[in-house]
Amino acid sequence: MVEGILSKAFWVVYATVFAAATVVYGQQVPCYFIFGDSTFDSGNNNNLQSKAKVNYSPYGIDFPEGPTGRFTNGRTIADIIGELSGFRDFIPPFAGASPKQAHIGMNYASGGGGLRKETSKHLGGRISLRKQIQNHKKAIKKAKVPVQRLEQCLYTINIGSNDYINNYFMSELYNTSSLFDPNEYAYSLNRLYRTHLKRLHSLGARKIALFSISLIGCTPKMIVSHGGGQGCAKDVNAAVAIFNNNLKDLVNDFNKNFKGAEFTYVDIFSAGDPLAFARLGFKVGDKGCCTLSPGEELCVPNKPVCANRSEYLFWDDIHSSEATNKMAAIGSFYGPLGSPYSISQLVKQ
Ligand SMILES: *[C@@H]1O[C@H](CO)[C@@H](O)[C@H](O)[C@H]1NC(C)=O
Ligand SMILES: *[C@@H]1O[C@H](CO)[C@@H](O)[C@H](O)[C@H]1NC(C)=O
Repeated sequence: MVEGILSKAFWVVYATVFAAATVVYGQQVPCYFIFGDSTFDSGNNNNLQSKAKVNYSPYGIDFPEGPTGRFTNGRTIADIIGELSGFRDFIPPFAGASPKQAHIGMNYASGGGGLRKETSKHLGGRISLRKQIQNHKKAIKKAKVPVQRLEQCLYTINIGSNDYINNYFMSELYNTSSLFDPNEYAYSLNRLYRTHLKRLHSLGARKIALFSISLIGCTPKMIVSHGGGQGCAKDVNAAVAIFNNNLKDLVNDFNKNFKGAEFTYVDIFSAGDPLAFARLGFKVGDKGCCTLSPGEELCVPNKPVCANRSEYLFWDDIHSSEATNKMAAIGSFYGPLGSPYSISQLVKQ
């Protein structure tokens, strides 16, 4: 297991060198659509009544346009995948995008969003995956994007973390953990995911990269709340591992049984081990880079940040730094994190 983690992580180092030397010859797909939660959100929550929004400094301190609503210091994994696919501009958030943008791509992701409807409801407004796919349907119908075009586009989805962090493992506010054991819960999430993906497939999506949930039990927030003083929250990681295994099966199911489906599973779980990252030169893996108030997971506005952001795995108490995102994006685009396809293979096919 550890060996697997390290070889994946080390591969990323080679990939980084390789990517730096790679010239991207223009856009490789006509369009790119992004779905998910705060890890992919680029500003859809900015005008919602929500605690899950970050359009303030120091978020975006390393992003060309400053604080945009991205939950990190710079680019998200989804942003970097767009660059590697040859897009010259970042895919804009659905909120406020011009209708014709649906021909090029939109980002529907929303901080707090999950597979289950009630997930994160204590945070206020957020857009579930179901609603994100509805927004996509509206957008492509309104702009009359031809289905032949939609079949050529790249789609990336990163969802499920909140169904654990802001639902199952928040038993004081949610009752799912008394209704389901971890197997049953993962199964029920998987059924929901399947329903949503069928919908997206029926809207023309074919090349879809589905991101695993990361090692969320090793985020600073979960170490404190669920680690019991022993480091990573093992029960959290174990529950998420079941979800991820089911997701892998779901990808195979689609590839076998759905017309034209080229789905791929992106394993950011095994590659996300803080120990492995330590060997990649990250120095701090157990706390965020920005200033945090006790018990809060988002950065305090306008307070100091760490001196060298590329040494930190985490930007705030739960979200990865741009340096981490870069590793994950490159590993999924060129590397062995994707199976059966890397994303570069998806966009070339
Ligand atoms: C669990 O909570 C939901 C609301 O989130 C509620 O509708 C449901 O009745 C509850 N179920 C049980 C068994 O308490
Ligand atoms: C920041 O950290 C990275 C990784 O350890 C290192 O390569 C870089 O030189 C550091 N930058 C500064 C300004 O210290």
